[in-house]
Amino acid sequence: MTLTATPDSGARLPFDITRIRRDFPILKREIGGVPLVYLDNAATSQKPVQVIAELTRFYRDHNANIHRGVHTLSVESTDLYEGARARIGAFIGATDPHEVVFTRNTTESINLVAHAWGRKFLQAGDEVVVTEIEHHSNIVPWQMLRDERGIVLKYIPMLPDGTLDLDEARRIIGPKTKLLSITAMSNALGTIVPLEVLIPLAKAHGATVLVDGAQSVPHMAVDVRTLGADFLAFSGHKMLGPTGIGVLWGRMALLDAMDPFMGGGDMILNVNMERSTWADVPAKFEAGTPNIADAIGLGAAVDYLSALGMDEVRRHEIEITDYALRRLADVPGVSIFGPMDAQQRGGVVSFELEGIHPHDVGQVLDTHGVAIRTGHHCAQPVMAALNVPATARASFYLYNTTSEVDALASALEATTKFFGMGG
Ligand code: ALA
Repeated sequence: MTLTATPDSGARLPFDITRIRRDFPILKREIGGVPLVYLDNAATSQKPVQVIAELTRFYRDHNANIHRGVHTLSVESTDLYEGARARIGAFIGATDPHEVVFTRNTTESINLVAHAWGRKFLQAGDEVVVTEIEHHSNIVPWQMLRDERGIVLKYIPMLPDGTLDLDEARRIIGPKTKLLSITAMSNALGTIVPLEVLIPLAKAHGATVLVDGAQSVPHMAVDVRTLGADFLAFSGHKMLGPTGIGVLWGRMALLDAMDPFMGGGDMILNVNMERSTWADVPAKFEAGTPNIADAIGLGAAVDYLSALGMDEVRRHEIEITDYALRRLADVPGVSIFGPMDAQQRGGVVSFELEGIHPHDVGQVLDTHGVAIRTGHHCAQPVMAALNVPATARASFYLYNTTSEVDALASALEATTKFFGMGG
C-alpha cells in the first residue's frame, strides 16, 4: 500500500485515500440517491475486501472445528486460528501469544476480568477506581461486583473540557486501590486519557491496571510492553474486523492465577464425575467452540492495519479531526464537546446543534447520506456531567476524507434551515 499524499479539500493527508477507499465496497453505496458518508466508526468500522475474502476463504476451503481433530481440515483450521492469535498478539506487542484470549468483544473481556480476577482477588473494602468518562461496559460490571462483594467503586471526575481531573486522580488513587480500570480514549468525547500519568500512579500503590482499548487499539499504536497495564481489552469490529470477536490480553502470571470464566468443552485438562481441572491459558478462558472464522478475520484486519502503519493511521485521524473541529466550529449553532486540540482527542467529535434534538439531527443527516451516532453513546455519566440528554457524534477512521467533513458541515447547515432555526 502506498502512502503518498493526496490533496483533498485543500488539506494534505498522509495516505492514498482514493486507493484505500477502493478496498471498502460499502463506501460506494448511496443512501436515498446520495453518496454514503460514513462517520459512525466509533460504533463500528467498515470492512475491507481483504477481511471479507479471508472470511469467505475460511468457510469455503478450511472450515472445521479446532483443537479436536487429526483430520486435515481441523489441522488447517487450528493453524489459521492460532496464527491469527499470534499476529494479533504481535500487533499489540505481546511477547507471548498465549496471553491473547479471544472473547466476543471489549464488554466480554472486561466482564471476564470482573468475574475471573475480581471475584477471586477482591474483597469487601477494596477499591476499584474508574473514571466518569467510561463506557457503561467499564462501569456496570464493577457496580455488580460492588453489590455482590462490597468493594468500593470510585470515579476520577471529568473537567468541563472533557479531560480528567488529574489532581482528583492523585487524591483518589491510593493504598486501598486494588484495580484501576480505565479507558484509553472516551468513546463519547474522544478524550485521550493520559495513561502515562495514571498507570504509574496506580502501580506506585501496587494496584492492578485494566485498560479499555476499544477506542485506542483501532486508531493508534498500542504496545503492551510499554503501556504498563496488566490487562488490555478491545474489539475486532471497531478495527476493520468482524463483529463477535474481541480480545483480552493479560499478563500470563495473572491469567494463570485466575479461575475460569465459563465451564465447558476445550477449557479442561481432565473431568471426572467429582471434579475437573483446567487447561492452560488461553484455552482455560475459551470454553466451547470459539468464534473461529471471526478470529481469523481479525487476523486479516490486523494485517491490513499493520501494512498501513498505526502511526500513519493516527496521523491521518489527527488531520481529519483537526479539520473537523475547525470546520464544524464555523457552522452556525454548533457547539462541540470535549478537548479542542486534535492531539488530545481521537477521531471523535461530539456536538449539539442549537435548538434541535440530536436524534432529529441524526435523522436529517441521514437524508443527506451522512451516518452519525446520536444518543448517550453508552456513557450516561458523561451526558450527566455535560448536562445534556444526548449528543450527536461524528467519528472518523482511516478511509474518511476532509470532503466528507465538508459534507457533514453542509448537511448540518441544511438541518438548521430544515428546522427553521438560525434566522
Ligand atoms: N461503544 C460503541 C459506540 O461508542 C458502540 O458507539
